[in-house]
Amino acid sequence: MTAMFSDRKPETDSRPEVQRRETFTAYVCDEASQRAIQHYIADLSLPNCSVHLGGIAAAITACEREASPQALLVDLTDAEPAATKVNQLAEFCDPGVSVLAIGDRNDVSLFRDLMRAGVRDYLVKPLPRALLQEALNDLLGISAPVERVLTQRLGRVVTVVGTRGGVGATTIATNLAWGLANHKHRRVALLDLDLTSHACGLMLGVTTDNALREALERPQRIDSLFLDRAMVPCDQRLYLLAGMEDADDPIKIDPDALPHLIGLLRKSFHYVIIDAPRTGSALMRQALYLAGDRAIVLDQTMLSIRDMVQLKPLLDKPREGQENFLILNRVGESGKEAIAIKALEETVEMKISATVPFDAPNAVSASNAGIPVLSGAGPVSKALKNVLEALGGTLLEPPKRWWQRLGK
Ligand SMILES: Nc1ncnc2c1ncn2[C@@H]1O[C@H](COP(=O)(O)OP(=O)(O)OP(=O)(O)O)[C@@H](O)[C@H]1O
Ligand SMILES: [Mg+2]
Repeated sequence: MTAMFSDRKPETDSRPEVQRRETFTAYVCDEASQRAIQHYIADLSLPNCSVHLGGIAAAITACEREASPQALLVDLTDAEPAATKVNQLAEFCDPGVSVLAIGDRNDVSLFRDLMRAGVRDYLVKPLPRALLQEALNDLLGISAPVERVLTQRLGRVVTVVGTRGGVGATTIATNLAWGLANHKHRRVALLDLDLTSHACGLMLGVTTDNALREALERPQRIDSLFLDRAMVPCDQRLYLLAGMEDADDPIKIDPDALPHLIGLLRKSFHYVIIDAPRTGSALMRQALYLAGDRAIVLDQTMLSIRDMVQLKPLLDKPREGQENFLILNRVGESGKEAIAIKALEETVEMKISATVPFDAPNAVSASNAGIPVLSGAGPVSKALKNVLEALGGTLLEPPKRWWQRLGK
């Protein structure tokens, strides 16, 4: 196999994935197919494309390690069973990627399964030149092919809201984002909508500029190029978008901005984690409305329960596929004064999904140092791993809308 994505990465590049996303990458199993695709690329002088030997196995390895290209060609020759391989690719492939498959099996049921999985086309080898050209033109949007209605696989949106101030919402949001990126190898966008605090950046040890202000005020200027520039890499798969409210010049939020921004982020990240303000503002309501999963962080205090009761109408009547999670943080902090979990659940008429113990030495020292507490040991880290898994029932499954499981 020729060089993988990571081999092409210059070490000086501080935000490799976003900027290095290739337009088109092919992974084929034989030299004849490699040559045919290379000719096509050369004929059209297409920039930012590459062809590798290695088939779908190499594509999976590359997508697991790096940002996927915008369009992908994979060779299914020798991929047995092809369905399993395609499922694996779907797990690691970025959402929104267009895929063309080639192979040596002229099999109607395979073709049908691949189409159902959202693969754009399947060509049987040897690749007839005209057919390959037509399929690649279609894949890459060259010569204005007839627009096909494709159900794209989109990233999942998780909004985290705290009840009372300081309950730990930002801690949960940043660690969830970090955990999905580092333990689950997903590409994650963390959106810090709490425009007064800059807390996500502090907890992850990165400095952000005020890009979110521009995005929220002038959504017509947000496109993928803007996001490539604005998102701050926190590590290989985790990117942060944040902004600061200026007391003298408050942000005038365009009501279309958040849906537009989230729509764009969902196309290139597996998860969009939102740290939402708990002020009941329009932005917070939108963030809850647009989320697939809403994680509410509370503790065992009256203040928290009162805020939860006020928040409740926004969580009731979830749309199809929308889930609510109650995360009880700081368990043990109030000692005997704590409101019992049963009483709390009865009052808010919801069940607690996960609990996190109070452990100031670990949690506070990690956040002060700009290190996710989940990256270390201790009771909070252990509990946050459980939060990651508790949300996992729906959250960590690969989205099924586009790449449905084959063979069913
Ligand atoms: N389980 C815990 N045990 C001990 N300290 C914690 C725990 N969870 C969070 N903290 C600490 O509590 C403080 C507030 O946490 P955080 O900023 O996450 O709360 P928040 O709800 O986002 O606050 P805000 O209302 O300011 O947005 C931080 O110093 C954090 O480290
Ligand atoms: Mg916060």
